[in-house]
Amino acid sequence: MKRYFSFLLLLLLFSTSISSILSLSIHNIQEYKPAAPTQTPVSFNNYSLVIQFPKSLCNNPNYGRKCDGLWKSELPNKFTIHGLWPNFGSNREPAGPRVIPDIYQLITKDKTLAINLYNSWPDVYFDSKGKGGIVKQNLKQQAAREFWGREWKKHGDLSGLSPEDYFRTTYNLYNDLGNIYEDFKTNGLINMQGNINVNHASQRLVTILNVKPFIKCVTNKLNEELLAEIHIAYRRSDLMRLPHSDSKFRNHNCSGDIAFLRV
Ligand SMILES: *[C@@H]1O[C@H](CO)[C@@H](O)[C@H](O)[C@H]1NC(C)=O
Ligand SMILES: *[C@@H]1O[C@H](CO)[C@@H](O)[C@H](O)[C@H]1NC(C)=O
Repeated sequence: MKRYFSFLLLLLLFSTSISSILSLSIHNIQEYKPAAPTQTPVSFNNYSLVIQFPKSLCNNPNYGRKCDGLWKSELPNKFTIHGLWPNFGSNREPAGPRVIPDIYQLITKDKTLAINLYNSWPDVYFDSKGKGGIVKQNLKQQAAREFWGREWKKHGDLSGLSPEDYFRTTYNLYNDLGNIYEDFKTNGLINMQGNINVNHASQRLVTILNVKPFIKCVTNKLNEELLAEIHIAYRRSDLMRLPHSDSKFRNHNCSGDIAFLRV
C-alpha cells in the first residue's frame, strides 16, 4: 500500500513538471517574434556620412595597416566613402541583430548601383600582394564588398534602412557632395607641397555644403598630419544636411592648422 502511494506521488510530481515544461515552451513559442533587421529599435535623429581620403590613409600609416604596393598610382585622387553611420550621440547603441546581407546578390540586381559603389566605396587597404590584371580586379571588388558588409554590420544594421536603401542612400548622399578634392584644388587651397589649411578647408566646405562638417586628421609614422576624413551630418527624417555636432566649438581635430592632402 505504502509503495503504491509513493508511486502515485511520483507520478503526480512527474506529470506536473511535464505540464509546466509544456506550458513554458508553448508560452515561449507565443512570445517569440523574429526580429526583422529593418525594425531594430532605433533612437537616433541623424546620420553622419563619413568620407575619407585614401592616399592620406596609405601614406605611412601609424596603425599597422598596409595598402597595395601600387596605392600611389592606383588609388583615386578623391574622397571616397567610409560609411553612413547613425549618430546615437549620448543614447545607447541598440544591440542589433547584425546580420550581413548577401551583398553580391544585392548589387547583381542593380548594375548601375554596383558600378557606382565600386567607384566610390573602395577598400582603401586592399592589397593584391603582387597579383595583377583581372585577378586583381576581382579581388579588389571582393574586398570592397567585404568592406561594405562590415560597414553594414557595424552601422547599417542600426540605420533603420533596408540593405538596398542603405547602400543606395549612402551613394546618393556622397554623389551630391561633388568632387571635394577637385574643388579644393581648383580653388587654390592645396599648395605645391600638398599642404592644406584645415580652417580654410572647413570654410570652403561650408560654402559648398551649406553646413559645417567635422574634419579629422591622422598622424603618420613621419609625424606628419594628414587630412583623413570629413564627417557630414544629416537629419534622419528628411536627409537634410546639418551642422555636425562635433564642429560646434572646433571644426577639426587636427593638432595644427596645416595638414597634408597629398596625392
Ligand atoms: C544628432 O543626434 C544626437 C542624438 O540624438 C544629438 O546629440 C545631436 O545633437 C544631433 N545633431 C547633430 C547635428 O549631430
Ligand atoms: C582625430 O580623430 C581620428 C579618428 O577618430 C584619430 O585617429 C586621430 O588620432 C585624431 N587626431 C588628433 C590629432 O587628435
